Amino acid sequence: MRIIVQKAKCQGHARCAAQAPDIFKLDNDGYILPGDIEVAEGEELPASRGVRSCPERALELTPT
Ligand code: F3S
Repeated sequence: MRIIVQKAKCQGHARCAAQAPDIFKLDNDGYILPGDIEVAEGEELPASRGVRSCPERALELTPT
C-alpha cells in the first residue's frame, strides 16, 4: 500500500500528521514532504485515517 502525495494541494493543515506522525512527515512550515509514502505492514489503519483527514484531498491511497 502506498500514499500518493499531491504536494501542490497541501495547505499545511497538518491533520494527516496528527493522525499518524510516523507516516506523514511535515516540513518546518507544516506542509507535507514531497514524494510518495510506502505504508509498512500493520500501518494501514493510521495511514488510511491520515489520508481521509486531509481537507484538501492532497493524499490518495493506492494498493501498489
Ligand atoms: Fe497537507 Fe492535508 Fe496534511 S493539507 S499537511 S496533506 S492534512
